[in-house]
Amino acid sequence: MFSPSEGVRQTTERSASPLILQEIDRLTIVAAMASFDRPTDPAIPPAAWVMRWAGLIRPGGAVLDLAAGHGRHARALAALGFRVTAVDIDVSALSDLAGEVIAADIETGSWPLAGRAFDAIVVANYLHRPHFPHLVESLAHDGVLIFETFGQGNERLGRPRNPDFLLAPGELLQAFGTCLTVVAYEHGEEQTPRPAVRQRLCAVKGAAPRSLL
Ligand SMILES: C[S@@+](CC[C@H](N)C(=O)[O-])C[C@H]1O[C@@H](n2cnc3c(N)ncnc32)[C@H](O)[C@@H]1O
Repeated sequence: MFSPSEGVRQTTERSASPLILQEIDRLTIVAAMASFDRPTDPAIPPAAWVMRWAGLIRPGGAVLDLAAGHGRHARALAALGFRVTAVDIDVSALSDLAGEVIAADIETGSWPLAGRAFDAIVVANYLHRPHFPHLVESLAHDGVLIFETFGQGNERLGRPRNPDFLLAPGELLQAFGTCLTVVAYEHGEEQTPRPAVRQRLCAVKGAAPRSLL
């Protein structure tokens, strides 16, 4: 999806240390990412959908914020007493997070969270379909998947426009509806915080929760 700029590498490799070269590669990769992929503005509050369904997560449980960006969800959930793990290719905005931070390119190589189980997984404004089975595997029993990202039709309204980043109507339902218990689902256009088409899902691994929020 993106590749380090060979030009930058060639001009520096004779003199720089491996660590500096690694950092240059990281910055070049981040700069080459589509704007949708970059960490969002830190001033953006956590998504209402994520905070709504946080009430279903086991108190004090372990929560994974995948492609966390500035960690708006990890921070808000840590403040609620959850043990958070934030994963992103660019963790430069996460150094002060009260939780575990994992720097990983989650679109290449093996799933960095193999063997771990989370009481909740949050995926917001990020889509990489090959992860869907990993998300299910990495949920503990009664774990909650809270997913919100852009849907088809968003290309009329703003970024992202790339179809790879846009969910088809019902796509999250189809992907997770047979292996998780769907608690809530939405797909449609909304005007706030800006015009966008979004799709959202909350689903649990196990039986439906006894009470909704
Ligand atoms: C639009 S931001 C969303 C950030 C956060 N989830 C939020 O809602 O505020 C997308 C995030 O995906 C991360 N990302 C993109 N490609 C990645 C990859 N291959 N591996 C890990 N993280 C990636 C970006 O660094 C960025 O932080």
